[in-house]
Amino acid sequence: MATVSLRNLKKSYAGAAQPALSDLSIEIADGEFLVLVGPSGCGKSTALKMIGGLEDITSGEVLIGDQVVNDFASRDRDIAMVFQSYALYPHMSVFDNIAFPLQIAKVGKEEIARRVQEVAKTLQLEPYLQRRPGNLSGGQRQRVAMGRAIIRRPSVFLMDEPLSNLDAKLRVKMRAEVAQIQRQLAVTTIYVTHDQVEAMTMGDRVALMRDGVLQQVASPDEIYHDPANTFVAAFIGSPAMNLFYGTLLRDAGGIKVKLGDATLTVPDAALAKYNLVRDHAMTDIIVGLRPEDLEDAALQPDHPVDQVFEAQVALVESLGSDHMAHVALSAPAVAVEDDVDNLEEVSMTGDIQGRCICRFSSQSKARKGDVARVAVACERLHFFDPKTGRALRDT
Ligand SMILES: Nc1ncnc2c1ncn2[C@@H]1O[C@H](COP(=O)(O)OP(=O)(O)O)[C@@H](O)[C@H]1O
Ligand SMILES: [Mg+2]
Repeated sequence: MATVSLRNLKKSYAGAAQPALSDLSIEIADGEFLVLVGPSGCGKSTALKMIGGLEDITSGEVLIGDQVVNDFASRDRDIAMVFQSYALYPHMSVFDNIAFPLQIAKVGKEEIARRVQEVAKTLQLEPYLQRRPGNLSGGQRQRVAMGRAIIRRPSVFLMDEPLSNLDAKLRVKMRAEVAQIQRQLAVTTIYVTHDQVEAMTMGDRVALMRDGVLQQVASPDEIYHDPANTFVAAFIGSPAMNLFYGTLLRDAGGIKVKLGDATLTVPDAALAKYNLVRDHAMTDIIVGLRPEDLEDAALQPDHPVDQVFEAQVALVESLGSDHMAHVALSAPAVAVEDDVDNLEEVSMTGDIQGRCICRFSSQSKARKGDVARVAVACERLHFFDPKTGRALRDT
């Protein structure tokens, strides 16, 4: 078991205009499950390959335990890797596939048998040990690949999108299984995914990257509730946080924020959290509203009237438990440009007429075309600097 330290890691591929990875520093605790997440091309696999010794390090250091391993061959780093493509040996049984690393290491027959049994038990593969990979389901094959990785009892697991070949339902199941096995084995794990739900549900901490630059590393809870900037705010959460350009108003009554025609009072709780709002030099500001902090005001008669806005309903999607109401807010939406594939939930157009998605509860009677009154949990508003995109709070 071991800690992993990434210190100012940088990677420039020959001929590339920009570094694939800039100055990545993260300290990963012994036994921790760290998820590296971000849009396609942001440098996740590059970082993982550098840790695993499959890619040269341009500058910076990788430490496993207290040893700098930059110059160690992959096989000398005491790591095991699991990738998206499992690369099992098709002509060998499940038993032999799992046993393979031990056979290479010339471990004795009896010990191999014992350890394969143990791993098969952990992974619930006991009934399948004599089968060939071709006769297994996708999830079972993925477990065999995991088995081959864990049987060596490495100090560190490196996993690169190991579940992305599986169908959606199986992925959800395997997500829980992998997380559970990791906790059981308590092996330090670095897990790469582009899927923010996977990141949020599996990781002890989540490191979100963009264009080779680390944006934030924090617990799932913290990264969700205290995003460091608009990119993090828009990437984590589904549907995404609504982000609009607004104007700060200060008067004797306190601080308000204007979003198009809507004016909302900013309560002390929000100002305490976003402690730089009070002294924000500009009146321009970016305001973030999570869909679940927006409710149909008809269902909340006691909600303060200075924390309500009116907006026309453009669309209501019923999810059974909730009604997702898309309302038109006459404020410019913030365009968080980037790999749109991975931000498909982000409907940010930069139009002056922004769409704001509200998670109304199912009792809401708001329908398309209505003018709804929207109750905003203003103590949970988020505020960002419109120039830098950074959260307006000390970090
Ligand atoms: N072998 C390589 N040679 C040149 N450029 C590469 C190579 N591998 C990756 N890149 C580039 O580095 C960036 C990061 O890639 P990668 O680490 O694979 O991203 P991710 O895993 O987050 O999708 C991308 O711009 C990609 O095109
Ligand atoms: Mg990748």
